[in-house]
Amino acid sequence: MNREIRITPSILNADFDHLGQEIAKIADVSDLIHLDVMDNVFVPNFTFDFESASQIIQACPIGVDAHLMVAHVDEIAPLYAQIGCASVTIHAEASENIGQTLRAIRSEGARSGLAIKPNTAIDDYEQFSDLVDMFLIMTVEPGFGGQKFMSDMMDKVRATRALIGDRPIWLQVDGGISLETIEIAVDAGADTFVAGSAVFKSDDPAAMVLALRNLAKGL
Ligand code: DX5
Ligand code: ZN
Repeated sequence: MNREIRITPSILNADFDHLGQEIAKIADVSDLIHLDVMDNVFVPNFTFDFESASQIIQACPIGVDAHLMVAHVDEIAPLYAQIGCASVTIHAEASENIGQTLRAIRSEGARSGLAIKPNTAIDDYEQFSDLVDMFLIMTVEPGFGGQKFMSDMMDKVRATRALIGDRPIWLQVDGGISLETIEIAVDAGADTFVAGSAVFKSDDPAAMVLALRNLAKGL
């Protein structure tokens, strides 16, 4: 398989009291840092408000892939792009004007991402493909790390790969990605992998990122 592979570790299960040190462990071997922003409204968990997220983003030594699991995302998403995120992903279920928000993210200089939860079909969102730099197919219900990978999402990953065709749109999966599951997602067509607990619960997070990358590349 010649597809370019990206590993974007999630810091959700890292030690929040020492985030700088946690990020430093994996920065050199990661493509982007995946930052899960949760508001306790769109999902039943809270991580960061915009102020704390901004501090993390501005201090991060590599690009940040912000995954916004928040209500009223249309207002806040462009601000995440403005403060320098490399990529900003909104949930289709949380947006009232998907096209406008994806355009606003791009016009602030970030890559635009569109995520869907396990019970949301991709079909209705194909129309936004020209405005999307990355589709995110959730492989767990958003809200928490450490959940079981939903292999029944692979049909959706395959359908999304088919609609992407030859376009340079990234296809990300998030939830339960580990040494046991990453190849299943690669085979279905994913090329960009979030891994939270697999990386930060491992004794050597950097070695885990490399191991996941090698498996995904078929090495
Ligand atoms: C869940 C988050 C994920 C989470 C993944 O809502 O979007 O990014 O950190 O964690 P793992 O890899 O442990 O499933
Ligand atoms: Zn995430």
